[in-house]
Amino acid sequence: MLWRLLRKLLFLFDPERVHGLAVVALRLAGRPAVARALRRPPAPSLAVRCLGLDFESPIGLAAGFDKGEGIAPGLYALGFDHVEVGTVTPRPQAGNPRPRLFRLPEHRALINRMGFNNEGAIACAASLAAVPAAARPRVLGVNVGKNKDTPNERAAEDYLACIDRLAAHADYLVVNLSSPNTPGLRALQEREPLERLLVACVERARPLGKPLLVKLAPDLAPEALDEAVDVAVAAGAAAVVATNTTVERPGAVANHPRAGEAGGLSGAPLAPLALFALRRAYARAAGRIPIVGVGGVMDAADAYARIRAGASLVQVYTGFIYGGPGFARRLRVELARLLERDGFHSAADAVGADHRDSRPRAVAVPGGTRA
Ligand SMILES: Cc1cc2nc3c(=O)[nH]c(=O)nc-3n(C[C@H](O)[C@H](O)[C@H](O)COP(=O)(O)O)c2cc1C
Repeated sequence: MLWRLLRKLLFLFDPERVHGLAVVALRLAGRPAVARALRRPPAPSLAVRCLGLDFESPIGLAAGFDKGEGIAPGLYALGFDHVEVGTVTPRPQAGNPRPRLFRLPEHRALINRMGFNNEGAIACAASLAAVPAAARPRVLGVNVGKNKDTPNERAAEDYLACIDRLAAHADYLVVNLSSPNTPGLRALQEREPLERLLVACVERARPLGKPLLVKLAPDLAPEALDEAVDVAVAAGAAAVVATNTTVERPGAVANHPRAGEAGGLSGAPLAPLALFALRRAYARAAGRIPIVGVGGVMDAADAYARIRAGASLVQVYTGFIYGGPGFARRLRVELARLLERDGFHSAADAVGADHRDSRPRAVAVPGGTRA
């Protein structure tokens, strides 16, 4: 109730200004004494072992919120049991001109064309190094990308430079090839460049003991997604993150006054596409690597559905913007209840449960049904 009122007020202001306010509040929330007071450990049934790491719950914050500005402790205190920082590029870059972030409240959605605004890998490494060990999230990922002016043929150099700079501060690394806001980036998801890039990145990250994940777009054709999963497995990637934002404007979103804004759509309207990609990636991976489910998770039922569809971990971004500071904790509490209701002893037991159900399933996606 209180949050609904506050949200009404906050939504009167420009989204990036509100983000700035949130960063200030999260710095405060991350101070050791405050963080200790805020932090509630999740139900033991939510503990997950994945990527060779122990996660307190499957719920984490997706990339893009914390660009490495020292707010991970505050986010952890709010109940995000892993925080993915980034996307970080080797050199600092300003991103696209403002306005570049838009709310579509009628659809519980956002459109963004931020364009990897970040302070660069050196500054991010310094900021992560300054986080006191006691306040650090149990699991902290770093998501890396290439600078806008680096041509695709030299993209690997950017990813490797980021890995070199940031691996020491990360529990896992994510190669982001799926932002729609860096021209040409998504072409790196095609078989040959993907293979070259992932092999090089895995080779660099492995001796450092860091699992390397790859984040994919929801707009890949089903066959291209299958191929990308196969390449990821063959290259030695530790997991696939499905998915980033979509360039589609599904269903009624197409009629929204903001629908014509360039950028990636996130939130509720992305859910069917992201769920489809997750389900397909899980089936294709067939247990060879885990899948991280992201995209349109707006409540605990959504998070539970992702786990049943094959997600070992579930990340959120837009749900947090609409759900407020209590969002992650609510997800955890209600998710534990849903698992118990259905007789699962742990979140891990429920991963992929839908695929073990013999009844055939079809996933409705805008523009048709994909079986
Ligand atoms: C404002 C904004 C900025 C984002 N920036 C990044 C980014 O830098 N790197 C990335 O991999 N994903 C980024 N994302 C995508 C999210 O991590 C996530 O994949 C996507 O929003 C779908 O999840 P959601 O529906 O829960 O928001 C961004 C999303 C938003 C809304």
